[in-house]
Amino acid sequence: MKLLITNIGHLVAAYDEAPGVLKGTAMAELSVLENAWLAVEDGRFADFGSMADWPGISDWRDLEVVDADGANVLPGYIDSHTHLVHAGTRESEFVDRIRGLSYADIAARGGGILNSARKLADADESQLFDEALHRAHKAMAAGTLGFEIKSGYGLSTEAELKMLRVIRRLSEALPVPVKATFLGAHAVPAEFTGNTSGYVDHVINTMLPQVADEGLADYIDVFCEQGYFSVHDTLRIIEAGAKCGLKAKVHMNQFTATGGVRACVEAGALTVDHLEELNDDDLAALKSGSTLPVALPGCSHFLRIPFTPGRRIIDAGLPLALATDYNPGSAPSWNMNLVVSLACTHMGLLPMEALAAATVNGAAALELGRETGAIVPGFAANFIVTEKVPSLEFLPYAFGENAIASVYINGRKL
Ligand code: NIG
Ligand code: FE
Repeated sequence: MKLLITNIGHLVAAYDEAPGVLKGTAMAELSVLENAWLAVEDGRFADFGSMADWPGISDWRDLEVVDADGANVLPGYIDSHTHLVHAGTRESEFVDRIRGLSYADIAARGGGILNSARKLADADESQLFDEALHRAHKAMAAGTLGFEIKSGYGLSTEAELKMLRVIRRLSEALPVPVKATFLGAHAVPAEFTGNTSGYVDHVINTMLPQVADEGLADYIDVFCEQGYFSVHDTLRIIEAGAKCGLKAKVHMNQFTATGGVRACVEAGALTVDHLEELNDDDLAALKSGSTLPVALPGCSHFLRIPFTPGRRIIDAGLPLALATDYNPGSAPSWNMNLVVSLACTHMGLLPMEALAAATVNGAAALELGRETGAIVPGFAANFIVTEKVPSLEFLPYAFGENAIASVYINGRKL
């Protein structure tokens, strides 16, 4: 099966070879080819070029031609940080925050993550699977064509394994890449109140071996934050994960500059995510290593907390990835179009930097940069065709609108 798209207004992030993670000024220089064509064969990108030197069609057999008529083509977004599997919603906490309570106040009353854990304990696997699949389909229709999904609302061995098995089923059912992250240390469950180190022991000695034995996770995560897990707890868990072949993707500095960024960089973490609080030493630590910073502006927007200083991170010559953090408590939106727009408006990213962060660098945050996140011959033909918009900059400018005409997965229109 062959597909040819002609008269593409702007073909974004098309490269002859995998671009690798984009850092500093390279992010604004994301490749854009004007007035382009794109060829797809057997579900993969085959070739692309400028309409000015288009070779024409020599073989019409099994060929579908789509005239983009000036619309743009982008690689699908890669959402490298989600909590897509959860039971129920938490809009009552949303209302409590409007009335003046903070995220920490709500957690102290037994709400927050523990609220979701209570709901999840009662949910069966098929219900969790069906609901998450429905969310994933909505996100795919809005351009997200690769996901990371975390556990972390189980907080017991049985319920964490249940979540991870649901994530495995999703990875089998969805036509796009899915990576699974074990987040046993998301909060201290009620049975371990006052005994955080006992719960860390339980995560390391009881949960992790079973997760690893069943091959249920690609990565390990910890919520490193005051009132949750310390830098010391985080390092213990990262090291135990590494022994099982799981690299770390860590919830870091959401509310507090913990000092954990340096510790994670030195421990070889793949990513540190959130970073709403980021001081000079954290930035220096990021510059000294290869840990990728990931910003989650939907969470800042929803909790009304500071936005990650993305402008400073990029100006320091570093890479940055953007993700939704989709979850029922701090970011109940799976919409990467909105995330790109928020990053421009509130973090000072240029539109092209934000698109680079949501595609090429999103793939790097999941070690998928050799197979997706850009338009490269041989990569899965997962892409977005926009509506006929005035410019690429219009996409984040028209916030709240997903100006997407169609989405293709493995070369087929969704
Ligand atoms: O990434 N910060 C920790 N975890 C989630 C929130 C989880 C929740 O409130 O349910 C986050 O924001
Ligand atoms: Fe998160």
